[in-house]
Amino acid sequence: MKFSKRSSLLSDSPTLAIAAKAKQLKMEGVDIISFSAGQPDFHTPDSVKAAGIEAIENNETGYTASSGKPNLRRLVAEWMSHEVGVDYVSNQIIVSTGAKFALVVSILAAVDPGDEVIFAAPYWVSYTEMVKLAGGKPKVIRTGKADGFKLSPEALEAAIGPKTKMLMINSPNNPTGAVYTRAELEALAEVLNKYPDIWILSDEIYSRLIFDGKKHVSIASISPEIAGRTIVVNGVSKAFAMTGWRIGWAAGPVELISRAGKIQSHSTSCPCSISQYAAERALQIDDSFIEDWVNQYSGRRDLFIRLLEDIPGIEPFVPEGAFYLFCNIGGWIGKTAPDGKIVESCSDAAEYLLDEARVAAVPGGAFGMEGHMRFSFACSTETIERGVMRIAKAVDKLR
Ligand SMILES: Cc1ncc(COP(=O)(O)O)c(C=O)c1O
Repeated sequence: MKFSKRSSLLSDSPTLAIAAKAKQLKMEGVDIISFSAGQPDFHTPDSVKAAGIEAIENNETGYTASSGKPNLRRLVAEWMSHEVGVDYVSNQIIVSTGAKFALVVSILAAVDPGDEVIFAAPYWVSYTEMVKLAGGKPKVIRTGKADGFKLSPEALEAAIGPKTKMLMINSPNNPTGAVYTRAELEALAEVLNKYPDIWILSDEIYSRLIFDGKKHVSIASISPEIAGRTIVVNGVSKAFAMTGWRIGWAAGPVELISRAGKIQSHSTSCPCSISQYAAERALQIDDSFIEDWVNQYSGRRDLFIRLLEDIPGIEPFVPEGAFYLFCNIGGWIGKTAPDGKIVESCSDAAEYLLDEARVAAVPGGAFGMEGHMRFSFACSTETIERGVMRIAKAVDKLR
């Protein structure tokens, strides 16, 4: 039997692969410390869980409108107007099965085969595959620690060509935690003003998780012209600790959202009805608990960085948002493990940590950036302390 070319283009999600191996070892009884999680370790708020239970008990278990319940779309429009700083109405919103599918339908609605989609590396693992799924070509711009892992206007302008259809931007960023300032977004918008046919897809799923009193800025808020061609993606997964409920959304121009809606209606029909009720509740409760979570995340970030200081060969980048520590592990490359194997890449290093330290982390190659590793600090301070101690011991054995 022959398989489609499309399916051959896609690679397995490397973050999921490491997490799966760690999970398997855990199931076998091995004491694994996982820094690979891409989700909060907090629980969905009780009142939100109750809304899901009520939805089941009230038999709200049938299909809903394909782009989401009208009431949820209205609530999302209100929430996004506040979050983004642009006024949205219901027909500018599509509610999808997680922010991930909101990204997919947005790309499918805008990108044709052969079109180029620009984004910066390191990038979230699925961006390349989503673009390829649409037949598009990812045009990846490498960034580095010196530029704060952020796209510069010069690099953006140099990457734009006749086939450029879309720019994807992710702030706060997974895996670096980099957060774009208004001035930086204005500089990017100035370049984009010269190219009015380029779509902007802004993934703001971590918008609520920003540290040190800094505020989230959306590129859509830079000017009405930019807002008119920007699709902003967000959802309840990260801020409300609801990753498994699978509710995310996109906000953007009516025509684009309506086309994304058609794609969604013929692929997943609608997001889960029960989860939509829960999401409605999430958007209406007092959400001051998020501030407490953010404080806990930033405390863990500081602890993690402090503890890593004593380990040679690893240099963390200080994240301003999300819950990941992106570290340069160049100092480990080329070293020899006790079994004689040479650590030749960050994947080897991740494998070594899993085998030797029983610590799971994600190699930078997954994010388009070799020589790095991502550690999630969506875990307890005790886990961080124990995990870093194990890493130190394993690194000490490298020669
Ligand atoms: C940058 C980024 N965008 C989107 C998503 C997807 O979010 P969801 O779980 O709502 O599909 C993730 C999840 O890890 C992410 O890190």
